[in-house]
Amino acid sequence: MKTLIKNGTIITADREYKADVLIEEEKISAIGEKLTCEADCVIDASGKYVMPGGVDQHTHFSALCNVGDRDTAGYETTDAVITGGTTTIVDFAPQDPDVGLLDSIDYRINVRAKGKSCVDFALHAMVTSLMDSIFDEIKYFPEKGISSIKIFMAYNGSRMHTDDGSFFRILEEAGKVGVTVFVHAESGEIISFLRRECVKKGLLAPKYHYVSRPPHTEAEGVHRACYLAGKTGTPLYVVHVTCREALEELRHARARGINVNGETCTHYLTVAKDALDNEDFNEAAKYVCSPALRDREDIDALWDALNEGLLSGISSDHCGIDVAELKQAGRDDFTLIPNGSPGAGDRFHMIWTEGVAKGKISRTKFVELIATSPAKINGIFPKKGTIQVGSDADIVIFDPEYKGVIRLTDNPNGVDYNIYEGKEQIGRVETVLLRGRVAVENAKFVGEYGMGHFVPAEMYAACYRGQHV
Ligand code: URP
Ligand code: ZN
Ligand code: ZN
Repeated sequence: MKTLIKNGTIITADREYKADVLIEEEKISAIGEKLTCEADCVIDASGKYVMPGGVDQHTHFSALCNVGDRDTAGYETTDAVITGGTTTIVDFAPQDPDVGLLDSIDYRINVRAKGKSCVDFALHAMVTSLMDSIFDEIKYFPEKGISSIKIFMAYNGSRMHTDDGSFFRILEEAGKVGVTVFVHAESGEIISFLRRECVKKGLLAPKYHYVSRPPHTEAEGVHRACYLAGKTGTPLYVVHVTCREALEELRHARARGINVNGETCTHYLTVAKDALDNEDFNEAAKYVCSPALRDREDIDALWDALNEGLLSGISSDHCGIDVAELKQAGRDDFTLIPNGSPGAGDRFHMIWTEGVAKGKISRTKFVELIATSPAKINGIFPKKGTIQVGSDADIVIFDPEYKGVIRLTDNPNGVDYNIYEGKEQIGRVETVLLRGRVAVENAKFVGEYGMGHFVPAEMYAACYRGQHV
């Protein structure tokens, strides 16, 4: 099968140029001006941008919530992800109860995601059950294609929390085999204390979520994580950085020579914490995620940090948690609201609209942050995250002229809300190809559930090459 994409403007992380793209079976086989060859399918991309499919390195599908024992929405809801321009996710693989890291990964590939995923997926191992055996399992990650492991310094009292000793040991073991350590950096202890104080005073509304997780709790977590990583020499990746104080800690750690990188997420770049001040519980609970949403000055600082290269990716931290059901657990006490919001289907449009269309980042920077850097950080580049000969033909054809509004009904995400509902949308993902197969046409999913495959990652990924990925 040959597909030819003609007359478009290709955007990669390095440059923008007019050229045609030829796809043979699953791969890009030629790029050039006015390619003339027979093809089974010709797509006219005149007036459109041709970009690599997005790589979202932080998603939680079919994954344990931080409160209770329920799971987030499953892989059958990734049709919304590909419709929103993301062709690969790097999803978290929390341990199933009393099961090791590797068996949990196998179960995810062979059961949880099988026959359902509409996007390709790599996996981060994720510690949610501290058994002695997990430290020994890390040496087998290379043969499984798992190049990263995630730990949570927060969520004390839940299965997700990892103590500093175990974190330190994980850093040591990961460094021996080229695995990158991803960390949710917040001071679990201070947050637990502040939450207890709120509860004692009867301050139970959703907005006390951000009151009990002030920026210094995140900054302290980043500081400690960097210190521990520095002692072991293992590259550290700080997920969902949200505020000025945490950015300062990253800057200081780098100045001390510590190999640390970080990302932020769509919602921290586009929504401020006053979204939680809403008197309507349901409206406020949609925005309960950790770290908490911040001030507008933090939003500005995050855009600057992306341009400066201090942060190297934008992810969604997608969590499919219904408000009508799971979030109700915290109606009378914010500490019981499961954390997280959906967003993998909106990342591409929200960041283009707020970042590119509003002049905060360039188009090439957009591709770098949304696709190329995440692919490099996770050891799946250049198979994923770029448009070049030999890469998988994961391609977005994007109409920059479209103007509309984000609506859940236009791209249902399998959850009962969209935190970006009603926001302006400039530009639209029109066509998406996954490994050469058209999965989205006229902004609607036309692919097949289960078309997404597991992508094994290479070890010693980009963070091992220094501070700037
Ligand atoms: O609130 C969030 N982010 N929930 C998902 C789990 C995590 O912390 O990444
Ligand atoms: Zn987290
Ligand atoms: Zn997360």
